[in-house]
Amino acid sequence: MSTVSFDVRKLTPKCGAEVAGIDLAQRFDDTQIRALHEALAEHGVLFFRDQRLTPEQQKAFGRRFGELHLHPAWPRLVPGHPEIMEIYTDANSKRIAGEDWHSDVSCDSEPPLGTVLYMLEVPPVGGDTLFASMYAAYEALSAPMKQLLEGMTALHDGESTYRGRYEGMRERESYPSAEHPVIRTHPVSGRKALFVNRIFTRRIMQLEKHESDAVLEMLFRHVETPEFHCRFRWLPGSVAFWDNRCVQHHALWDYYPERRRGLRVTVRGDRPFYRS
Ligand code: SIN
Repeated sequence: MSTVSFDVRKLTPKCGAEVAGIDLAQRFDDTQIRALHEALAEHGVLFFRDQRLTPEQQKAFGRRFGELHLHPAWPRLVPGHPEIMEIYTDANSKRIAGEDWHSDVSCDSEPPLGTVLYMLEVPPVGGDTLFASMYAAYEALSAPMKQLLEGMTALHDGESTYRGRYEGMRERESYPSAEHPVIRTHPVSGRKALFVNRIFTRRIMQLEKHESDAVLEMLFRHVETPEFHCRFRWLPGSVAFWDNRCVQHHALWDYYPERRRGLRVTVRGDRPFYRS
């Protein structure tokens, strides 16, 4: 029988926890993976320091939570590893990955469960990532607003997000789009979370366009509430594992013209659902 011996410490009251005493390159047994998955679902994002991972080890860790996801548009993949995205910025970059609040690839009909980002190179200062708890965002809505949104669905559109977005990318004929519940129930924690984001969500289907625009703008600004957030200062060897079902994230580009480089593995998820 295995024991679960790592130490989980909250970073802020609503979002994120640092996990110490764990080597992500190790082979985990099912009890350890269950404990990590429960901690992920509770805190929304887990942070690990001083890791050394080969591409194979990073993929093996991700695969313990589900099959790996292939990104529909990202142009920089690690040769021989189509499941690993290189996150890279330097003085020649025109944009960065994740430069506004979002949940990864929420335009997929089964959006990613989670994302494992392993940082290799950081600027001398800056390049932090912000995370926001969507449990906290849901819970802070008034009762009438919760009642309005529960049961509604929204369109998440990859076409308007990805076409022409990244330099050097070979365009696909079409990009995914999907309708998802505005409030989703987390399959592990059973808690409710807000599930609309500024990068992908275009329209609440049950509302007129002008109503949808106003409600979405209100919700996007609600996500920006600092009390829902934590902020992660990366070092080489840091890993963040975030749960796209209950957090959004926002990468900061305050370090131009410095370089930042990491490797990202994304774990496939299930169809979002709402259960009252
Ligand atoms: C992303 O959205 O995957 C990028 C996050 C980051 O670079 O911090």
